[in-house]
Amino acid sequence: MKICVIGVGYVGLVTGTCFAELGNDVIGVDIDEVKIGNLCESKIPIYEPRLEELVKRNIREHRLVFQTDVVDGVKKSDIIYIAVGTPSLDNGDADLSYLISAANEISKGINSSYKIIVNKSTVPVGTGDIVANILIDKGISRDKFSVVSNPEFLREGNAINDFLFPDRIIIGSNDTKAAKQIAELYKILNCPVLITDLESAEMIKYASNAFLATKISFINAIANICERVNADVLLVAEGMGLDKRIGNKFLNAGIGYGGSCFPKDTIALIKIAEKAGVDLKLLKEVINVNELQKELFFKKIQKVFGNLKGKTLAIWGLAFKPNTDDMRDAPSIDIINRLLDQKVKIKAFDPVAVENSRAIFNDNIEFGSSMYDILKGADALLILTEWNEFKQADFEKIKKNLNSPIIIDGRNIYDQDKLNDLGFEYYGVGI
Ligand SMILES: NC(=O)c1ccc[n+]([C@@H]2O[C@H](COP(=O)([O-])OP(=O)(O)OC[C@H]3O[C@@H](n4cnc5c(N)ncnc54)[C@H](O)[C@@H]3O)[C@@H](O)[C@H]2O)c1
Repeated sequence: MKICVIGVGYVGLVTGTCFAELGNDVIGVDIDEVKIGNLCESKIPIYEPRLEELVKRNIREHRLVFQTDVVDGVKKSDIIYIAVGTPSLDNGDADLSYLISAANEISKGINSSYKIIVNKSTVPVGTGDIVANILIDKGISRDKFSVVSNPEFLREGNAINDFLFPDRIIIGSNDTKAAKQIAELYKILNCPVLITDLESAEMIKYASNAFLATKISFINAIANICERVNADVLLVAEGMGLDKRIGNKFLNAGIGYGGSCFPKDTIALIKIAEKAGVDLKLLKEVINVNELQKELFFKKIQKVFGNLKGKTLAIWGLAFKPNTDDMRDAPSIDIINRLLDQKVKIKAFDPVAVENSRAIFNDNIEFGSSMYDILKGADALLILTEWNEFKQADFEKIKKNLNSPIIIDGRNIYDQDKLNDLGFEYYGVGI
């Protein structure tokens, strides 16, 4: 198929590249000229395992091209994927301005041939109709296009695998023929495909993210009780997770969720509910617990030191999760800002998120390129992202470099007993 992907950020770039990898001809378009310029030279704007290799291969095989001309991309394609950002507005609503502008561009590119417009961006229920109405208002006849919702469930850091080996594909449309055509694109992946109406597909995405966020806040709330009643949240989560109805995923207590999706999508769902006359109190509390988790971690650090002023703290991990350089809504931002307010000196290391972090913290924190060197002169080590390379660290080296052997672990990656035996003062979350 000839596919145009509008917006080559995390989702669009992975989607377009993987469709090319499956043998389709893909045009990736974006309004960001620098991004497109770099992509044309196979320079990847984000860190995502295996992405660079696949982009390079598909450019070489002439199945993947990048350009800034959206209208031209639309004209040359049968299927148009919209993967533009839908960030939060100040009032929590999803900002649809990028999507509306993409729909306007699409209207200019619909020529004589019929197109299927597929929305991959996460958008409020009813947005599919907004796109259709924009085209109709521009004089495009209803038989020249169909609108389909095909929400994305990939996880940053594992995005290629998630695209090529998905748990399920959701396709929503009020046009069954168009939905089936999109289903064909995924047939090769051999996974369950659920075809729904447009609105249900849009809701499945929000409901899924809200549920996962709820699971995280739930175990964090339990962790906070565990700390007070001398229970161990790691064992509690393990015991819960063995129940097949619960499962062990997303039951890791810590400093809360972040990233480009859960924070904005939970707020957007509350707004969608509000407009439908439903007060989604459950999800409001999920957000409250998540916010509190960062504050509690900060208080934990404060309790260890009493007065924080003048202390130096080393931080391992800045990205909102491992295997990505994405800093959007990373819990590390909130925690570091609180520490900076207390005049703490921060020395930080992250395997790939330093460049994006520098744009946030400027010179207010010091970045190091060696995870051990930044420990020199620090009064404690904080773990804020659970990168694999931190998990089997050289504890002797950590101890030697730190001023005092203190580890405050926001991701529970170490064994408390083992670290105590090694002479560390160790604090986790809920243990
Ligand atoms: N990042 C994730 O893990 C993830 C997962 C699932 C779903 N989503 C959803 O997918 C959508 C995209 O997210 P993302 O993280 O890829 O965003 P992103 O910000 O990384 O990328 C969006 C891209 O769209 C481009 N763009 C904006 N307006 C445009 C226009 N009119 N024409 C062409 N390009 C345009 C931007 O320049 C940018 O490169 C969002 O709705 C998000 O909620 C994201």
